Amino acid sequence: MAAKNKIAILGSGNWGSTVARIAGGNAARHSNLFDAEVRIWVYEEVVNGRKLTEIINTEHENVKYLPGKKLPENVVACPEPQEAAAGANILIFVLPHQFVKGLCAKLVGHLRKDAFAVSLIKGVDFDEGGVVLISEVIRKQLGVPCAVLMGANVANEIAEEQFSEATIGYRDEQHAQLLKHVFQTHYFRIAGAPDVAGVEICGALKNIVALAAGFCDGMGLGNNTKAAVIRLGLVEMIRFAKHYLENVRDATFLQSCGVADLITTCYGGRNRRCAEVFARSQGAKTFEDIEQEVLNGQKLQGTLTAKDVHAIIKRDGLLERFRLFTSVYEIAFCGKPVASLLEDLGKQELNMNGDIS
Ligand SMILES: NC(=O)c1ccc[n+]([C@@H]2O[C@H](COP(=O)([O-])OP(=O)(O)OC[C@H]3O[C@@H](n4cnc5c(N)ncnc54)[C@H](O)[C@@H]3O)[C@@H](O)[C@H]2O)c1
Repeated sequence: MAAKNKIAILGSGNWGSTVARIAGGNAARHSNLFDAEVRIWVYEEVVNGRKLTEIINTEHENVKYLPGKKLPENVVACPEPQEAAAGANILIFVLPHQFVKGLCAKLVGHLRKDAFAVSLIKGVDFDEGGVVLISEVIRKQLGVPCAVLMGANVANEIAEEQFSEATIGYRDEQHAQLLKHVFQTHYFRIAGAPDVAGVEICGALKNIVALAAGFCDGMGLGNNTKAAVIRLGLVEMIRFAKHYLENVRDATFLQSCGVADLITTCYGGRNRRCAEVFARSQGAKTFEDIEQEVLNGQKLQGTLTAKDVHAIIKRDGLLERFRLFTSVYEIAFCGKPVASLLEDLGKQELNMNGDIS
């Protein structure tokens, strides 16, 4: 008899813990499809004198990253990734992208033969050859297929069970159908797109645009300016995706992972919030200071992505084609004043034929 589908969650921050509530609930509800126990790998830390895994397994709450929300009792916290992944064939990767390679190295040789992954990680990697998607890092390091799930998903709002949507980017439709059962609830609606690269790159690049939106908020500018910055950012996202990746579909940008995620991030996310603080500090604080001060252990992803994207577009002589991405980098890391964002954007000619090229 084939082994039952079993879910493991790798990462237990704000989003990882929210996803554990959803996947734990669905594993218990769909007992025909899933083993009821869902293990979650928790990067061990001591909170109020106790181990976080011990707190989660007794109080059923991640008091550091998702306080005030109970996790289902079938969600079991493990301090070792191998222990969390043991016997699981559905591996949900949900951790800051700088920790992915280290985690995968620990999992090699410990996975079920029919295991496959889904990455919820919003970030991207680069090497000499160009853009390397995080789903590709996982696929290559572990030798398993990897789908992605991205969308307009600020974790705290989903933990409140507010209606929202997400997009699964997939190659294998059977995996996508199973993942829909892992994630979908009456308030969290899942669509699919056979475009892993397009779905994933949207999730990474929108964080750079969110920094620009936060700069606008920090300068006290209004809605027209922010809408223009969001639109110009979307143009650069599409341009970057089409330049660096193959077979990205236009329809993907209209899914939750595209324009919807961009909007929510530019109004609500942590990248926007930290960029607003940065702009208001007028050069007195670095993003590292602000991450420490504002995020309580959560990680800022947009600045890392801005740095990596800048390195590749500079290498390829494309800085003029990506004025918003370039300007965000120069403000964040080169001491340029925040107001230069709009001066830079104001220098570019707008397209008169309605196309994005
Ligand atoms: N929070 C959201 O609203 C949201 C929504 C959608 C997607 N995402 C994406 O999900 C991913 C995870 O985000 P999150 O919000 O769950 O995490 P987070 O930023 O809230 O928390 C940081 C996590 O990193 C862990 N950590 C710290 N140091 C570590 C180390 N050295 N090695 C390994 N892990 C370490 C911490 O234990 C914690 O679990 C990110 O890629 C993020 O972009 C987040």
